[in-house]
Amino acid sequence: MDLILIGFMGSGKTTISQLLGERLGLPVTDLDQVIVETAERSIAAIFAEQGEVGFRLLETQALAAQLDQPGILATGGGVPTQEQNRELLQRHAAPVILLEIAPETAYERVKADKHRPIAKNLNLAELAALKASRQAYYQSCADLVVDANQTPETIVNEIIDYFQ
Ligand code: S3P
Repeated sequence: MDLILIGFMGSGKTTISQLLGERLGLPVTDLDQVIVETAERSIAAIFAEQGEVGFRLLETQALAAQLDQPGILATGGGVPTQEQNRELLQRHAAPVILLEIAPETAYERVKADKHRPIAKNLNLAELAALKASRQAYYQSCADLVVDANQTPETIVNEIIDYFQ
């Protein structure tokens, strides 16, 4: 990969990766999408049938396989919570960019989404607590932290400026 995006659910990884791909002329890969295509099941179905442990195994396999591919990788919000994934990200040469979002915004974006098993039953306080519990993991993987509470254009410009 040439560039890897990490961040909590609802931080805009998918949107920003698409815009970056267009601006930089690079292919874009969404790790959740890879998992769904490989498993031939939705994220929700994987969680229902194999639990979070099963999902994390598939996620680590997908991450390891994708790192050798060119382009921009948008990861799932839980990727940095796994030690093996952190090691993969830290060892890989591609810059890892953390999109840092306010919990309130993340909540507004994910609360109606039934496809995110982890966020499904959480209220704002619980979502904020989950994000806080992951924060050190996110930070430990990040080469650059970008304030994702800005417009997509500003976020993309900041990322491109940093690496030019
Ligand atoms: C998860 C985030 C999701 C997806 C899965 C678990 C998490 O990705 O990988 O539902 O644990 O934070 P998004 O960050 O794209 O929502």
